[in-house]
Amino acid sequence: MQKIVIRGGARLEGEVRVSGSKNAALPILASSLLAAGRSIYKNVPGLGDVRTMGKLLARLGATYEEKPAGTAYVDTTNIVEHEAPYELVKTMRASVLVLGPLLARHGRARVSLPGGCAIGARPIDQHLKGLAAMGARIDLEHGYVNARARRLRGATIVFDVVTVTGTENLMMAAALAKGRTALENAAREPEVEELARVLNKMGAKIRGAGTSMITIDGVDELAPIEHSVIPDRIEAGTLLVAAAITRGNVLLRDCLPEHLDAIIAKLRAAGAEVVADGDGIRVRGKADFKPTDISTQPYPGFPTDMQAQFMVLMTRARGQSVLSETIFENRYMHVPELQRMGADIVVEGRTAIVRGPTKLAGTTVMATDLRASASLVLAGLIAEGKTDILRIYHLDRGYDRLDRKLRALGADVRRAKGSV
Ligand code: EPZ
Repeated sequence: MQKIVIRGGARLEGEVRVSGSKNAALPILASSLLAAGRSIYKNVPGLGDVRTMGKLLARLGATYEEKPAGTAYVDTTNIVEHEAPYELVKTMRASVLVLGPLLARHGRARVSLPGGCAIGARPIDQHLKGLAAMGARIDLEHGYVNARARRLRGATIVFDVVTVTGTENLMMAAALAKGRTALENAAREPEVEELARVLNKMGAKIRGAGTSMITIDGVDELAPIEHSVIPDRIEAGTLLVAAAITRGNVLLRDCLPEHLDAIIAKLRAAGAEVVADGDGIRVRGKADFKPTDISTQPYPGFPTDMQAQFMVLMTRARGQSVLSETIFENRYMHVPELQRMGADIVVEGRTAIVRGPTKLAGTTVMATDLRASASLVLAGLIAEGKTDILRIYHLDRGYDRLDRKLRALGADVRRAKGSV
């Protein structure tokens, strides 16, 4: 098992390219199941979750090839299976994204319930409620969802809670349903909009993606396409914070600044200098920052996937910052590890109070989930001495060679053999 070893103190400088988006690539790969034939996806990030989705598609009968240059070839001509097994779903909840496409195109799907997750219960009731409203018969049996429908039909679905993959699953299902579907209180994330762009390219009729009201007029057939995936706004946000906290000067290339408005606004409020620069973003950091409160919200609000990283920035702020996590009920697993490094953080329910500036000290810490592991890498960059981060498989699930990118910017980061 690998670990990451960081010696803190280096200022990050130079240029770095942002990879394709994990949370856009996963639903896009699942959408290949809606059409028979060969799809080609470019700018696909090289990370664990994408490989898991590839394994799942292959398990269903597709051929899946991932070329080194970030290109994935998926051929769904011979889909023979309709089951997403527990052993794959438990490693990646986004596997549930095959439910809508399988049901819509093949009339049946058997998908393991994802179960709980480190950051929260994360039920899929909204996904199932929507499919049932479209006429699917849904049974829960031995930990699996069994769904059947001769042909789904259009329906009006109002989400009780804004859900990203729920919106994506129902949008894919509705694309081949009979009639019109309206999704109300839908998620507005750029990844949802990107999926609608892909589906429309395949021949779907979707309007309003990116707003809370999406309308889909079902069609009889969709076609495979070639598409290049949008950049990863969360990887970009993580790199912006890395540059800012190390008093660095970094240019991020191949990213879309308009997807990062909430993140950039908070970085500026804290005192970092952030400017759009051609197809990229330049960030200049400084020694200390102003305390800044954040409350995680669905897009276009401040993303929960940046909460842990921003917490590290706030350990450098002169005063007290209040962070509210409104999306997931258990997303402070990084706090005890940051406290071990000397951070002054108090958690009360869904609120974390960070007091600074505090000098972090390197030690051995344990990653618990994807974004928590990113925050420990950031803490290691500014900590005194050496930091060993264990269980970095969490990081590799969602970041495309983050350590290599940081090293190219001057950080003292390397991989080593770990004990756990
Ligand atoms: C997506 O997860 C992302 N994953 C998550 O990123 C991200 O944190 C999350 O959206 C919120 O932005 C992917 O896109 C693959 P939700 P998702 O359904 O869709 C509740 C990362 O770090 N809910 O929008 O699973 C749920 O419990 C990951 O890259 C229900 O109650 O999240 C949560 O409290 C982590 N019932 C809230 O809604 C449902 O049926 C939002 O969850 C569905 C969700």
